[in-house]
Amino acid sequence: MTADNNNNGVIIKTSALTKTYRGMEKAAVDNLDLEVYTGEVFGLLGPNGAGKTTTAGMLTTRIIPTSGNAFVASIDVRKHPSLAKQLMGIVSQQNTLDRALTVKENLYFHGLLFGMDKKNSLVEADKLLEEFQLSAWGDKSVYALSGGMAQRLMVARAIMHRPAVLFMDEPTTGLDPQSRLVLWEILRELNKEGQTICLTTHYMEEADQLCNRVAIMDHGKILALDTPSNLKKSVGIDTIVQLEVKTNLQQFSDAVTKHLPQVIKTRLYAGGLELQIGKTDNLLSKIVAAADDAGSEVTNVSISEPTLETVFITYTGRDLRE
Ligand SMILES: Nc1ncnc2c1ncn2[C@@H]1O[C@H](COP(=O)(O)OP(=O)(O)OP(=O)(O)O)[C@@H](O)[C@H]1O
Ligand SMILES: [Mg+2]
Repeated sequence: MTADNNNNGVIIKTSALTKTYRGMEKAAVDNLDLEVYTGEVFGLLGPNGAGKTTTAGMLTTRIIPTSGNAFVASIDVRKHPSLAKQLMGIVSQQNTLDRALTVKENLYFHGLLFGMDKKNSLVEADKLLEEFQLSAWGDKSVYALSGGMAQRLMVARAIMHRPAVLFMDEPTTGLDPQSRLVLWEILRELNKEGQTICLTTHYMEEADQLCNRVAIMDHGKILALDTPSNLKKSVGIDTIVQLEVKTNLQQFSDAVTKHLPQVIKTRLYAGGLELQIGKTDNLLSKIVAAADDAGSEVTNVSISEPTLETVFITYTGRDLRE
């Protein structure tokens, strides 16, 4: 199935897309205006309950919007859900493989379901098994697959009919670090070949590493949307310093803001103090001077660059992991 690329490169468009679940006061997704471009990896990043799955569910026709519109490849998903679905590959948050079928049959029957003829479907299934390093498992039950292999098979199945957009809801939740890296590599490769990917995640590294653009979502709304690098620049923080101090943490905190007017924000966390700092020279000597002033001793320092976590905290006042 080919994508309709004639809409200025916009492949997903929503306007005022809203879902309020029955009996709920607040909207799970609240007047969402979104554009995803052809060829990009787009990420919805947000904590539990942000509305990521609800958004993905409406785009993939599983959830009926309360109001607003959504278009995928110029097709109105509310008016033409079956047609729209033909243009999508979907990997949901749960394992949706057919356990009555073998690994290869999961691909083969998916191909038939999406209009491929038997021969083509068999050829494609073999090709994908090879590409996703699952050939040795073709005749096995899906029960035999590890979590990482099952996830790879779900991606292979989702792209088998050449969808215009591949949707993935939390693609690597529950995977071990190694399988996560393998899947990232597969997604990068697919994207390099032109596959548009729209994913949700609550892992900032995943959004940062994989996505061309990221929308930070909380309480059903998008708080910020840009490339990971621009998002990180947008908060005006140059350096994050985490300090462990032997005594007088509060006094130290007061002294450090005096010595370092570039401190944008201080945050106490279990075991230490975090400083978010704008551009400055001689950072460490200023920190040491502040410790001297406060009569305290710095026992540990770690310096890092802002992450999407920093961006999230700046916009919401909360930790992504809380
Ligand atoms: N079927 C439902 N009925 C009522 N409320 C729901 C339903 N599904 C989700 N919600 C609520 O809607 C809000 C958004 O949920 P959603 O599953 O879209 O969030 P999410 O960002 O995908 O979270 P998670 O990281 O946990 O997957 C939450 O407050 C959730 O409790
Ligand atoms: Mg979810």
